[in-house]
Parts: sequence; C-alpha cells; structure tokens
Amino acid sequence: MERAVSSAESYGELVQIIYSSRSLLAGTTAEIAAGIADILAVSHRNNARDDVTGALFFNGRSFAQTLEGKSLAVADCYAHILKDKRHTDIRLLRHEYVTARCFEGWAMAYVEGPCGLGFTISPGFLHATVAKNDEAAAVLELMRHVMAYP
Ligand SMILES: Cc1cc2nc3c(=O)[nH]c(=O)nc-3n(C[C@H](O)[C@H](O)[C@H](O)COP(=O)(O)O)c2cc1C
Repeated sequence: MERAVSSAESYGELVQIIYSSRSLLAGTTAEIAAGIADILAVSHRNNARDDVTGALFFNGRSFAQTLEGKSLAVADCYAHILKDKRHTDIRLLRHEYVTARCFEGWAMAYVEGPCGLGFTISPGFLHATVAKNDEAAAVLELMRHVMAYP
C-alpha cells in the first residue's frame, strides 16, 4: 500500500499512541532475534522518513510500542502495524495529543524485557534508558503493560 505521508512538515498535531500485542514470532532464539531485527530495520527506515519516533518493548511473548508524530503519520504507521501477521491481540492503550515527544531522536528505540532472548534488564540499563529518554513515566508505563500482558 502506498504511504499517505510524504513529508515531515505536514498533517496535523503531534500525537502519541501506545499499544500492546501478543507476539506470533516463533522458532529458535536466533529466528526470533532475526524477526525482531526485520521489524526494527523496516521501522527505522519508515519512521525516519515519516518523522515517527517511539519505543518498542519485547519480552519474548508480548510487544508494547509507543509511536509518536504528526497524527496522519502515526495513524498510517499504526494501520500497517494492525495488519501485521507477526502479532495479534493488539490493544490500543493510549491515544493522546501531546506537545512534546518522549522519544525525540529515536526512529524506534528497542528494549527487551526479562524472558526475552535471554537478557534481563539491569537497574543500570533501565536507569540509562529512562535518563536518555528523559521521560521515566512513559518508559515505566510501557514496561508495566508488557510485563502484565496475559
Ligand atoms: C510489533 C511490531 C512493530 C512494528 N513497528 C513498526 C514501526 O514502528 N514502523 C513501521 O514502519 N513498521 C512497523 N512494523 C512493521 C509494519 O507492520 C509493516 O510491516 C511495515 O510498516 C511495512 O512497511 P513497508 O510497506 O515499507 O514494507 C511493526 C511490526 C510489528 C509486528
């Protein structure tokens, strides 16, 4: 499908959405890691083009993602994500007009949770992530939703 957004300048107010979903990525750890790498590669390319920023969390079972940008760019990105067969049970947790981005400069930040691909989040890492994004509440809220997903 042709993207509706062609420039970063246009199309409305700044919005932030947060959703969670259940991963359908299957296979070995390496295959799942390759699946995540694919998602991130496309996300970095498209989001940089469309001035969409955000963060993706994955804990091996579930995703949570924040997307932020001009309203049409975010809606278009989310429409693609909704149709993606690599996840299901997508729940929109938040849709808000905002005055500033939480993930300015991040085409898509990526954080893995415990039970992910064998990594755990150390307090130091979490602290660094929070400090980098300068928005502890958003990061922690995402973490909470990912960990609580049934
Ligand atoms: C959990 C998850 C998160 C995704 N996040 C993004 C994203 O932030 N930006 C994006 O363009 N595509 C994202 N995708 C991929 C889209 O669903 C879709 O495959 C992609 O936008 C198609 O891009 P293309 O038309 O350039 O091939 C994500 C997919 C999944 C499963």
